[in-house]
Amino acid sequence: MEKKIVKIMVNGDWHELLVKQNMTLLEFLREELNLTGTKEACDEGECGACTVIMDGRSVNSCLVPIMEANGKEITTIEGLAKGQQLHPLQTAFIENGALQCGFCTPGMIMSSKALLDRNPCPTEMEIKGAIAGNICRCTGYNMIVEAIKTVTEPKG
Ligand code: FES
Ligand code: FES
Repeated sequence: MEKKIVKIMVNGDWHELLVKQNMTLLEFLREELNLTGTKEACDEGECGACTVIMDGRSVNSCLVPIMEANGKEITTIEGLAKGQQLHPLQTAFIENGALQCGFCTPGMIMSSKALLDRNPCPTEMEIKGAIAGNICRCTGYNMIVEAIKTVTEPKG
């Protein structure tokens, strides 16, 4: 497989690497950058475990060909905490018992972040819509929705 150079900003840093053209963004993050917080499960766009934010939109990184991510800005779960300080969504998930095994959590949080970045005070329906593509086998979703609600800004 022919290789190509890609230049992608991940969590604020540009990475310029020679990669296989048929690689996905998920493989790039996990295998080239060692950012294993983004999870791999179905590899078919069905579970949302691999969700990251690309140029402001949540995407299933297992479905994004690496050449499509070239020149783009990616945020992964590793990009949310500031040093020891967790992102408010991360704190909310912990404080509201919104995770059990934690496998879906990075994807859930990235879908939620993409929603709150464009709509800081979503309705419950909008929250449910934003995480509709993220499958959780443990929590039953209620605690996840409640956790996200605690981070929304009250409508003024
Ligand atoms: S691993 Fe990408 S959607 Fe399931
Ligand atoms: S916490 Fe286990 S899959 Fe969601």
